[in-house]
Amino acid sequence: MATQEEVFKKITAHAKEFGFVFQSSEIYDGLSAVYDYGQNGSALKKNIKDYWWNSMVQMNENIVGIDASIFMHPTTWKASGHVDAFNDPLIDNKDSKKRYRADVLVEDYIVNKLEAKIDKEIKKAKKRFGEDFDEIQFKSTNSRILNYQEKIREVELQLKKVQENEDMEGFKNLIEDLEISCPISGSKNWTDVRQFNLMFSTEIGSVSDGASKIFLRPETAQGIFVNYLNVQKTGGMKIPFGIAQIGKAFRNEIVARQFVFRMREFEQMEMQFFVRPGEQEKWYEYWKEVRMKWHLAIGFPEGHHKFHNHLKLAHYADAAADIEFKFPFGFKELEGIHSRTDFDLKSHEEYSKKKLRYFDPEINESYVPYVVETSIGVDRMFLAILSNSFTEEKLEDGSERVVLKIPAFLAPYKVALLPLIGKDGLPEKAKEILKELKFDFDCTYDEKNTIGKRYRKQDAIGTPFCITIDHQTLEDNTVTLRDRDSMNQERVEVNDLSRLLSDQVALKNILKKLS
Ligand code: GAP
Repeated sequence: MATQEEVFKKITAHAKEFGFVFQSSEIYDGLSAVYDYGQNGSALKKNIKDYWWNSMVQMNENIVGIDASIFMHPTTWKASGHVDAFNDPLIDNKDSKKRYRADVLVEDYIVNKLEAKIDKEIKKAKKRFGEDFDEIQFKSTNSRILNYQEKIREVELQLKKVQENEDMEGFKNLIEDLEISCPISGSKNWTDVRQFNLMFSTEIGSVSDGASKIFLRPETAQGIFVNYLNVQKTGGMKIPFGIAQIGKAFRNEIVARQFVFRMREFEQMEMQFFVRPGEQEKWYEYWKEVRMKWHLAIGFPEGHHKFHNHLKLAHYADAAADIEFKFPFGFKELEGIHSRTDFDLKSHEEYSKKKLRYFDPEINESYVPYVVETSIGVDRMFLAILSNSFTEEKLEDGSERVVLKIPAFLAPYKVALLPLIGKDGLPEKAKEILKELKFDFDCTYDEKNTIGKRYRKQDAIGTPFCITIDHQTLEDNTVTLRDRDSMNQERVEVNDLSRLLSDQVALKNILKKLS
């Protein structure tokens, strides 16, 4: 059986081969941790964004959307805390001149040196004991494994301590004590550990005009905070209300890996919900539940999501949790829900010297609202869907197929029109049906190759339905409708197609489930 790592490699290769994701500027050997979405990838991404936007903005009368600029006044980032505190601990190897994230070096040590030894012991024992091998018992009794597990716990504790105390000297000592060497040069010749700000900067205006340094936003949320009063006033919004936004964010991630999971340029879908002070806990719990339901409504199997409540909180938060998803490389953060208090608005009040208050007629009081935020990366959601949909199947006739079982409402194309052969009037009839269906559904058309090959191609890009037009269609106006997942085919009236498809692929069915 393929390891999770091998499966993940297959998924990334499939994403490229079928037009989902390409390395950015690949003809120049690419740019690390920057990706482009191809014809099928951008369609899937758009459908994910529609699902989020419609469930947040369209379905809630008290949530509105905005589209703020990527460039913002530089003081924004001073007020938000990003200039002073948006850092990663970095260390350089003096021989290879390569730069690493100190915490990742330690995490890699745990995986490559300690967990790898446990795996090796298990593999050896499996070989020795064959069928009778009881892995759970072996892991809980074998003394070598127990020692490695103890060591892992010890290193994790030390790592947590230096991270929490932001102890850069302690970080370096830990790397030296563990005798971690540079994967490139093999040497242990390290610099000190330094904090490195993750924001990209650029200059606005020409240099001779006196250019000033600005940042590419590292989160979309601040565009919402600085517009909070504009929206509240012009929209006549009454607390509690939300402002939603989808847009690009940029972070100079030093360790950029796992495909589109951690990128330097990515897209966020964020919503800030403004509430009365003292009511933030209630709304935090509310949004945790609503957001988990949104994920589950997609139809992933049980056990793919879990909450991870933060014990160590960011300077602005009084509660925070991640929704983690079971990616091929383990459970990792997909979305964050944060109770951000009144930190951001208060800080913007202080730096801008403008009042950002709300007069609450119900209690006859003016206050700076508290904020509960939901924040999810489009690209991570894309990866969650892609990796969960990727399926390799052995068929009864011994052949194999790769199928992306993307939930139908998110699939790039909902339906493919396939004339059985490219003559006898079948292409014309197929195009006539396409002409009607394309008003309501994303359709594709294909007449090249055998019908079997065309089905495989649609399976590989996740098209949930194929409509085959044959000679009988010309006689009785019926077609075969093939279901991607079951591969079942049924004969249906052309006039019924629109209704049948709509029942299966319309986003509104999922939105109804959620309301
Ligand atoms: N406004 C809050 C905020 O930005 P975050 O936990 O730093 O919080 C929110 O980011 C979400 O953005 C994450 O849960 C993740 O889905 C996505 N995200 C963050 N950094 C990312 C990166 N480098 N590449 C892709 N997605 C990222």
